[in-house]
Amino acid sequence: MSDLIQKLQWRYAAKKLNPAKVVPPEKINRILEAIRLTASSSGLQPYQVFVVTNPELLEKIKAVAWNQGQVADGSHLLVFAAWDNYTAERINMMFDLTNEVRNLKNEGWENYRQSLLNTYPQRDAEVNYQHAARQAYIGLGSALIAAAYEEVDSTPMEGFSPEAVDEILGLKTLGLRSVILLPLGYREEDKDWLVNLKKIRRSHDAFVTEMQ
Ligand SMILES: Cc1cc2nc3c(=O)[nH]c(=O)nc-3n(C[C@H](O)[C@H](O)[C@H](O)COP(=O)(O)O)c2cc1C
Repeated sequence: MSDLIQKLQWRYAAKKLNPAKVVPPEKINRILEAIRLTASSSGLQPYQVFVVTNPELLEKIKAVAWNQGQVADGSHLLVFAAWDNYTAERINMMFDLTNEVRNLKNEGWENYRQSLLNTYPQRDAEVNYQHAARQAYIGLGSALIAAAYEEVDSTPMEGFSPEAVDEILGLKTLGLRSVILLPLGYREEDKDWLVNLKKIRRSHDAFVTEMQ
């Protein structure tokens, strides 16, 4: 078994994190870098990650996340927040960045910019938000793998009120909507009912269909 697969076997959505243990900053930074390097549709990266360590904020978020203890017991809480809409400004920002970093202007790329400008901003904001949120979930996948690689525990969480978290973190005025929470920390083995239970996944054959 590869080291990575072994670490993915080790990871699970921890139900109890040890509030006394802090994830070192270099590990947090590598997990964040894995998210930043994640692919996104048209390279727009239509989401941001907030790193919450403030105890008062963590308690407030826990209260609107079904009181799930991991939110405040982890040393860091990542909040994935997606763009609430695709605007011409946001699309241009990423295309301009590409031109600046690569120091070239390419006709094909400019045509592609126009096709997005002619499509995305005219669409319903909710459709655009849902598309942006899907990109955030791809980032979540990277975070889960990176955390496991760093031997850091994490629990992806949809069990919260996005409107309440948006309010607590002031996301609405930034044109963002919270999508998913990811507490990071270390499992408290003697207090977690899930730690020793077998991982449940459908078999390879039930999950993968080969068409040759
Ligand atoms: C999008 C998403 C939302 C989830 N929401 C929660 C949650 O709110 N609380 C929780 O304890 N676990 C949550 N989970 C964890 C899943 O229940 C867990 O990943 C799944 O049962 C597979 O088990 P494992 O990750 O422990 O291997 C969530 C997982 C994902 C991917």
